[in-house]
Amino acid sequence: MSALVLRTVDADGTRAAATAIAEVLRAGDLLILDGPLGAGKTTFTQGLGAGLGVRGPVASPTFVIERVHPSLIGGPALVHVDAYRLGGGGDIDDLDLEADLDQAVTVVEWGRDRVEHLVDSFLLLELERPDQVEDPEDPDEPRTLRLSPNGPRWDERAIEQLVLALASLHGTATTIEENC
Ligand SMILES: Nc1ncnc2c1ncn2[C@@H]1O[C@H](COP(=O)(O)OP(=O)(O)O)[C@@H](O)[C@H]1O
Ligand SMILES: [Mg+2]
Repeated sequence: MSALVLRTVDADGTRAAATAIAEVLRAGDLLILDGPLGAGKTTFTQGLGAGLGVRGPVASPTFVIERVHPSLIGGPALVHVDAYRLGGGGDIDDLDLEADLDQAVTVVEWGRDRVEHLVDSFLLLELERPDQVEDPEDPDEPRTLRLSPNGPRWDERAIEQLVLALASLHGTATTIEENC
């Protein structure tokens, strides 16, 4: 499986990467965000919300598991799910995500190994923080974003669109590599 690997240097860089990815997204798409607490999953989702033109603010859904952000521009809504407190697959089925999946772009923080069974295709985004921070006073840190497209939705053409969208970030905060 090929993956697109990006590096961002600050939270705005991660938001900008998400906003670029949003250009390619359409109703029915599912993104699974994986990475430890503080990795930037919610920050990334904020960039998606901006790119999709949905009503904000996108924030950590602390007491809510799912939040729906309707579009302000006649496009798909953003469904933002935080599966952190959910147990196994059974609990995610209780959310009835399928009801919205077709009409919305759905993002599931902590969704890895919990929601794949609901769809044919998804984008897995793994966010990593460096083990050591260069300047502990600086709130901005680098992140590695590894984007893995899965399933028939993400055919060669769709992946090419992703690469093109992300290429617009070149020279700002981001670098792109394609691994096989
Ligand atoms: N390169 C970066 N990308 C994303 N977030 C970053 C980056 N550098 C610093 N941060 C900070 O890290 C924190 C990430 O928090 P959040 O997005 O809530 O993480 P998660 O949802 O994965 O728990 C934010 O305070 C953000 O400002
Ligand atoms: Mg979060």
